[in-house]
Amino acid sequence: DRDELLFSYKGILYPATFCSPEVFRAMESLEARSDDIILAGYPKSGTNWVGQILNDLVGIFEKKTQNKESSMNDEELEEFPYLEIGDTGKFERMNKLPSRRVIFTHLLPENLPRSIFKSKAKILLLIRNPKDVATSFYHFSNAMSPLPSYETWDDFFVAFMTKKMPWGCYFEYISKWNKYADDENVMTITYEELKEHPVLGVKNIAAFFGFSPTEKELQIVVERSSFQSMKKNSQKTHGAFGNLLFRKGGVSDWKNHFSEDQNEKMDKAFEEHIGRTKLGRKLKY
Ligand code: PPS
Repeated sequence: DRDELLFSYKGILYPATFCSPEVFRAMESLEARSDDIILAGYPKSGTNWVGQILNDLVGIFEKKTQNKESSMNDEELEEFPYLEIGDTGKFERMNKLPSRRVIFTHLLPENLPRSIFKSKAKILLLIRNPKDVATSFYHFSNAMSPLPSYETWDDFFVAFMTKKMPWGCYFEYISKWNKYADDENVMTITYEELKEHPVLGVKNIAAFFGFSPTEKELQIVVERSSFQSMKKNSQKTHGAFGNLLFRKGGVSDWKNHFSEDQNEKMDKAFEEHIGRTKLGRKLKY
């Protein structure tokens, strides 16, 4: 039952298996650093993909261990990479990890520890068009027992449009982050542009965080972060979770799910809430 799986913290729903109010409170003890690499994105926007790219860039430039099977397995990154998932002791342990740390989060900017903004840590904001996000979230919710499941796609669509999602409402997420879109410490990338031009995307991400990979290194990072190779390695990198996570990895699967009416409703909500914002214009599909 949905009510048992989710709890509300500061007006946003979270899955109780992954998150807790205690961890949210303990989070303020994170000592963010100016060289931290923060990856922010609404769920199902491609976090694990871009996380792989970031971990590889750190691997190449900070640790010189290019031959690692997967940076996700790196012992120094023993903490689960999502900021808000774990136990209350996590932040003290994270404070002891060497630079550069890669930290994933699905949180709204206002719910991040203040030290992230004070430290001027750079934030990569990853956004994906809401139709593919909804499609991906639907399949993931039904596959993952800690998340509410839905009898039909139509049921899910209603929940997605009425803000009943874990980690909150997509449109609210985009409009809250939009206020940070012009900050010099924030770079935005869309799932779709990275998919279309991966070499350029990785190059821009690297430059933003102060890495300058050679063409060869760029190729390696792009190859290792392709959907095919991540899916192939997923058992090793993500365990059983891997099968559920690496589903299709493409653009436009929403066309196999949305009815005409749902498509219109989504377009209308998009225009109403974020269509004229900077992030909304980047997301135009
Ligand atoms: S989570 O659980 O919220 O952190 O999920 P997240 O990683 O953000 O998003 C999962 C979707 O990203 C797709 N994915 C990829 N796409 C392209 N290339 C690569 N390498 C890649 N890795 C993961 C994944 O398949 C999910 O999208 P869907 O549409 O469901 O396939």
